[in-house]
Amino acid sequence: MERLVVATGNPGKIPEMAVYFEGMALELALKPPELEIEETGTTFMENAELKAAQVAIALGEWAIADDSGLAVAALGGAPGIYSARYGGSDGDAITRLLRELGDNPHREAEFICTLAVARPDGAIALRAEGQCAGEILMAPRGTGGFGYDPIFYVPEVGLTFAEMAPAQKDAISHRGRAFAQLLVDWPPA
Ligand code: IMP
Repeated sequence: MERLVVATGNPGKIPEMAVYFEGMALELALKPPELEIEETGTTFMENAELKAAQVAIALGEWAIADDSGLAVAALGGAPGIYSARYGGSDGDAITRLLRELGDNPHREAEFICTLAVARPDGAIALRAEGQCAGEILMAPRGTGGFGYDPIFYVPEVGLTFAEMAPAQKDAISHRGRAFAQLLVDWPPA
């Protein structure tokens, strides 16, 4: 495999993924913008598989997709697969999550990242999943990262994701762990 199409319309995903495939003569390409993909699954893995398979079949090429989000135990796993649509902006989503959690002392949460790689015929060749356990703070801390990073505190490090240097976050994050698992079986047969 020389080229891998990333099943996303977000150009930022290419450099993000390139970090993990560094040194592997592999060209990562963005899916064509006119190709619409459906994300109708009920789990992170189902969504990653759906996205990778749809793009692979449409283009007749190898494709990779990720699906990730935050699951808060006291909210029954919300925002979960709806993490990206929980607020109009990252700030709104944080405000909504903090409001819904209120002063509930049970603040355990988990970031989850799933990855699926599809063959040109759409069959799933590889799957991987990574988790990172943490707690939701009462108020945001830190300025780095994106999404829910400022309210996600990792006790083993003593920092929020937004307070960590990018390499420090990659080393322990759900995404870093998912890619580490994926690369154990790389390249797919
Ligand atoms: P996606 O599946 O990578 O598009 O991520 C879905 C959503 O989950 C994002 O829009 C963020 O709201 C949230 N999310 C996923 N990973 C992270 C992270 O590492 N930090 C903060 N938020 C994240």
